Amino acid sequence: MKQFGLMILPILRYGDSPLHDAAGPIEEITDDVHTLIDDMIETMYAAPGVGLAAPQVGVSLRLFVIDTSVGRDPSSLMVMINPQFVEREGMQLEEEGCLSVPGFNATVVRPARAVIRALDREGREFRHEGTGLLARAFQHEMDHLDGMLFVDRLRGIKRDLIVRKIRKLSRTGKW
Ligand code: NI
Repeated sequence: MKQFGLMILPILRYGDSPLHDAAGPIEEITDDVHTLIDDMIETMYAAPGVGLAAPQVGVSLRLFVIDTSVGRDPSSLMVMINPQFVEREGMQLEEEGCLSVPGFNATVVRPARAVIRALDREGREFRHEGTGLLARAFQHEMDHLDGMLFVDRLRGIKRDLIVRKIRKLSRTGKW
């Protein structure tokens, strides 16, 4: 179906399918993929968030958009199709959240530096290096493509506490 104008897409939450499944590669960058990318960018900015992966809007494909400036600097917007890590090193510990786990934050171990190889929206391969927040965002979004949320990176009590609270919210229809 042809769409006119950009759409803000509903963002799935922890527990929804296909958020917890590994996504498949994009075989061909069709008009539908272009529309999806545009809508995902619009949805990310509207949220607002620094990144959004296709599984978060119910599309199980290996694609995410990232903008650590949240729209302030157009040059920092990146579209990554079929991304792969080329390098990852170091470690950082920072608090993060996720649009699919609203209201919760936790300190997550992430690489200090990461290099990703991906296709842009025209199908051209590119590499991008990220440090600090961008390295963390890269790992966070890559995890989404493997069906993993930041909650799944937590251990023991911290994870149980968040999952219990989400279950309680679900039971009372507030999730
Ligand atoms: Ni997320």
